[in-house]
Amino acid sequence: MKALITGACGFVGTNLTLHLLGKGHQVIGADSLSRKGSELNLKSIMSQYPSFEFSAVEIEDLPSLIHRVKPEIVYHFAAQVAVTSSLESPKRDFMINGVGTFDVALAARDVGAPVVYTSTNKVFGDNVNKVPLRELDKRYDFDGALKEKGISEEFPIDAKHHTPYGCSKLVGDIYVREFGGVVNRCSCMYGRHQHGIMDQGWMSYFAINKVLGKPVTIYGDGKQIRDAVHADDVVRLLEMEGKALLSGTPDIKGEVFNVGGGYENTTSLLELCDMWQIKPSFGPWREADQKVFYCNVSKAERVLGWKPERGIRSGLDDLYAWTEKTLTKKE
Ligand SMILES: NC(=O)c1ccc[n+]([C@@H]2O[C@H](COP(=O)([O-])OP(=O)(O)OC[C@H]3O[C@@H](n4cnc5c(N)ncnc54)[C@H](O)[C@@H]3O)[C@@H](O)[C@H]2O)c1
Repeated sequence: MKALITGACGFVGTNLTLHLLGKGHQVIGADSLSRKGSELNLKSIMSQYPSFEFSAVEIEDLPSLIHRVKPEIVYHFAAQVAVTSSLESPKRDFMINGVGTFDVALAARDVGAPVVYTSTNKVFGDNVNKVPLRELDKRYDFDGALKEKGISEEFPIDAKHHTPYGCSKLVGDIYVREFGGVVNRCSCMYGRHQHGIMDQGWMSYFAINKVLGKPVTIYGDGKQIRDAVHADDVVRLLEMEGKALLSGTPDIKGEVFNVGGGYENTTSLLELCDMWQIKPSFGPWREADQKVFYCNVSKAERVLGWKPERGIRSGLDDLYAWTEKTLTKKE
């Protein structure tokens, strides 16, 4: 397989790049290296695969790269990834996630390459906050019909208040499907090669701060819960989707999948702090934060035979161990 991976040195991109190179596939990686930590990920890939074909490019340069390289498949992960930045610079957020993804999807269609895209739970916007909730000691949870089941693909996206990030990712999400690709609406992903910051990748960010002895601030009361899916499970899904798109079996062109760890792999911020013995401080709620999000992943299981296998306990141990090793490594 000849795959072009955008955002190849980001968290998801690095995990997939290493996996596909390890299986002997041809991978062409592209990344602007704008994400802190992406240059470390590039080093890590190059140290294992010195002939890795990599282009340091901005999203605007991706269509010409796709036309030149003519990949069989495009995995599109390059994105403006933080809700906070999208609120500060909505135009740049839209140019990267909306226009940028449209241009990638169009160029991929030109060369006959299907696109696999990572969208987000934020496309469901404020509708999620209209689901009845119950408040427990350390977490919120859905109440009623969605309790312990979570949000499925049929959940309405026509909310007000998606945040600009939710809007721009939804634009990309719709175009990728329109042009015959497949979309994953991802909940919280975590694992090795993740360099979390306060604005994105919170589990990794908590681990980094704990290792470095730095304080952690929680926005809101910390009872927000998310279902977490480990990078190993994500990579397995992405590979399955690539195979399905290239073989036509099962036919997943234009499909959307909700991707997360499901109810059994949920944690609240407070529960994670307890597990890692972090004593957080608290700030005001963030705009359009979802108090509860976990997804129903049964469609991916039904159609592709995929479900998350890595339990949250062992997955978080893996993230913590990788973070500690990376931050304390002597050059
Ligand atoms: N990590 C999560 O929990 C999560 C959840 C939902 C959706 N997603 C989506 O998954 C994808 C991958 O996320 P991630 O966690 O690996 O993020 P990441 O920030 O680690 O990786 C994104 C990569 O894209 C690159 N990039 C950013 N802007 C670019 C630009 N203008 N041109 C070229 N490259 C650019 C960055 O340098 C980075 O290496 C993103 O599309 C994100 O929206 C992630």
